[in-house]
Amino acid sequence: FIVDINVDNLSENQAVKDAAALLRKNETVAFPTETVYGLGGNALSGEAIARIFKAKGRPADNPLIAHVADKEDIYRYTEDVNEKAEQLIDAFWPGPLTLIFPHNGSLSEAVTAGLPTVAIRMPGHPLALALIRKAGVPVAAPSANTSGRPSPTSAAHVRVDLDGKIAAVVDGGATGVGLESTVVDCSGDIPVILRPGGITKEQLEEVIGPVEVDPALAAETAAPRSPGMKYTHYAPNAALTVVEGSDRFFQEQIDEAARSGRRVGILVPEEKAGRYTGAAEQVVCGSSHDLRTVARDLYAGLRAFDLSGRSDVIFAAAVPETDIGQAVMNRLRKAAGNRIVSEK
Ligand code: TXA
Ligand code: MG
Repeated sequence: FIVDINVDNLSENQAVKDAAALLRKNETVAFPTETVYGLGGNALSGEAIARIFKAKGRPADNPLIAHVADKEDIYRYTEDVNEKAEQLIDAFWPGPLTLIFPHNGSLSEAVTAGLPTVAIRMPGHPLALALIRKAGVPVAAPSANTSGRPSPTSAAHVRVDLDGKIAAVVDGGATGVGLESTVVDCSGDIPVILRPGGITKEQLEEVIGPVEVDPALAAETAAPRSPGMKYTHYAPNAALTVVEGSDRFFQEQIDEAARSGRRVGILVPEEKAGRYTGAAEQVVCGSSHDLRTVARDLYAGLRAFDLSGRSDVIFAAAVPETDIGQAVMNRLRKAAGNRIVSEK
């Protein structure tokens, strides 16, 4: 399906109606959100959720986010929304923020993978909101990629991974943020960031004061509280290494790999385009002057290496870990399976 998101009345759009009807029949439908494309299924139906896990090849212990189209809908699924959570909802919904609450058991158990908590988010994309409203059910939606691959930021990415495995794709063009939502656990007194994403730590703290960061995001040894964070993720086929350091250091990495006969791909911001020699392939990813553009282009950039097949190894330039840079570096580290070389 293709939907022009500029049409006036999305809820009367035939493609939205058809997609909503599929969701009500417990089929899986991929759709755009402001972060990445999601693979949606009726969150009240174990059958629908089983289809999502099967299509993605997702480990069964990794719970899904339930998407709602109205803030008030969360009270159907949880009785425990504290004041800080309410402030975050007021400030950032609809938007790229997922909140974790103790649940009341009314969603399919497969959504929460048996945990006592549920992840809920109200997405900020008009097409996503129209589809969820029309379906009339909460929509569980992980990113619409094959498990382990970079998340899809276009309908074409979804098709590469899931064509033939899902009922439909609603094509609303490229997504905006480009990285997944920030996941914040609101089940305790002090909110904890479990996954950095579209809303930054600084933005959260402006609204509710200090928030914690799951220690597992920094140290590899601690067990992550967000089950999804323990899996290798976002990885292109060629082995990726994150490079922290000067231009000269970056060039040395290229030269060394090229000397050993490997075809080298590089992922660099536009300011560095054309600056290095000896790479078989260069993919440009946003501008270092605006890290939001790096976030927006990151997954398409990683997927570009798979499409061309021209690189055996990839070197990606690190970005500063400020604002959305935290989320960018989190995804790069995961895509690299923590292979990082640092000049210092
Ligand atoms: O931007 C997004 O969040 C996208 C769009 C489609 O909304 N969705 C997304 O879903 O990224 P997914 O399934 O790829 O990532 C959900 C993350 C996983 O890391 C999962 O482990 C975590 O949220 N999660 C879900 N329920 C949880 C829970 N009850 N406790 C802790 N973590 C949870
Ligand atoms: Mg995902």
